[in-house]
Amino acid sequence: MKGIKILGTGSYIPSTTVTNDDFVKFIDTSDEWIYTRTGIKQRFYSTEKMNFQMAAEAAQKALENSGVKAEEIDLIILSTCSTDFFYPNTSCLVQNIIGAANASCIDVNTACTGFITALDMARRYLCTGDVKKVLVVASEFLTRQLDYTDRTSCFLFGDGAGAVVAEAADKPFYSVTGAKGDMLDALYCRIQYSGKYPEEGFDHYDKDIREKLDTEAKNKFLQMDGKAVYRFAVDAMADSFKKVCEKAGVKACDVDILIPHQANIRIISAAMKSMDIPDEKIYINLDKHGNTSSACIPTILDELNRTGKLKEGEKMALVGFGAGLTYGSIYMEL
Ligand code: ACO
Repeated sequence: MKGIKILGTGSYIPSTTVTNDDFVKFIDTSDEWIYTRTGIKQRFYSTEKMNFQMAAEAAQKALENSGVKAEEIDLIILSTCSTDFFYPNTSCLVQNIIGAANASCIDVNTACTGFITALDMARRYLCTGDVKKVLVVASEFLTRQLDYTDRTSCFLFGDGAGAVVAEAADKPFYSVTGAKGDMLDALYCRIQYSGKYPEEGFDHYDKDIREKLDTEAKNKFLQMDGKAVYRFAVDAMADSFKKVCEKAGVKACDVDILIPHQANIRIISAAMKSMDIPDEKIYINLDKHGNTSSACIPTILDELNRTGKLKEGEKMALVGFGAGLTYGSIYMEL
């Protein structure tokens, strides 16, 4: 058995809508600027649930959709970079809420690439035969990590969660993943703790990065060099997608469903420009949801599933990037 079958999907979308015009009230911006630069019109903020609760809602819906009982789940792999607790991990909290008492629980953090990493891990576990059913969840609450005085980043993000239940299947599945760990300063959100940071802690990074980390008063919030992320994302998405197609022995234009990470419509268009893929095969929901980090891809998967668009045998690619900086692509047949 090489690949996986997706048995069911679920998602949780918070109910509070935040439009671009809402940002005009506290930063110098406009709906027109945000929309033309990013493709985002609105996003959803979680005002009622914590991250683990959103994750559990998505997981519960994926179980219902799959017809798999919670106690049949052998493993939960959960992606988040916006956890509620340092420990325990979020997957343990989800396990308890949904009643998956027989599941091992692992959290992964490759930031926005997280669902791709988690699904790739799920497939590797499933292929050993040691686990039969895996619940893969991605849940993010990035809107509480934002600096709402920073007009270059605060409008990009929304909250939400998505999940799939998967089992092993004799179907093609290929992945390409990687990281560029020297690009710490392009995108990070630093944990605050009492006491002084060790001065020599960042010896492996260039002087300007060390100074930035030492001096940025607000570095408990998300810090982003938008242009550096943009340049990296276009190349990394295009490159990993090409490589995964080569590995699978398929042409990019043969892919039926392409779900890219929903960071910015211009990044997606630039990355896919040379690929000869018709727009109708590239699935986008960032106009409504903004960037929900690793939850973007499974949320779209759930939309496609519930509207009957995930058809047996279709060729699907998932393509992403994230803080780290990380990147990854999966090619699989449904
Ligand atoms: N409203 C109005 N004007 C603004 C705003 C704003 N919110 N923010 C910046 N500007 C101004 C700038 O000050 C600048 O003005 P100037 O020319 O007078 O200096 C001008 O608009 C252009 O700014 P740029 O930074 O060049 O804008 P750019 O086209 O690069 O767009 C953006 C900025 C949207 C952040 C873009 O760089 C981007 O999307 N980068 C990638 C972001 C991203 O995907 N991050 C990843 C998040 S996490 C993850 O998914 C892994």
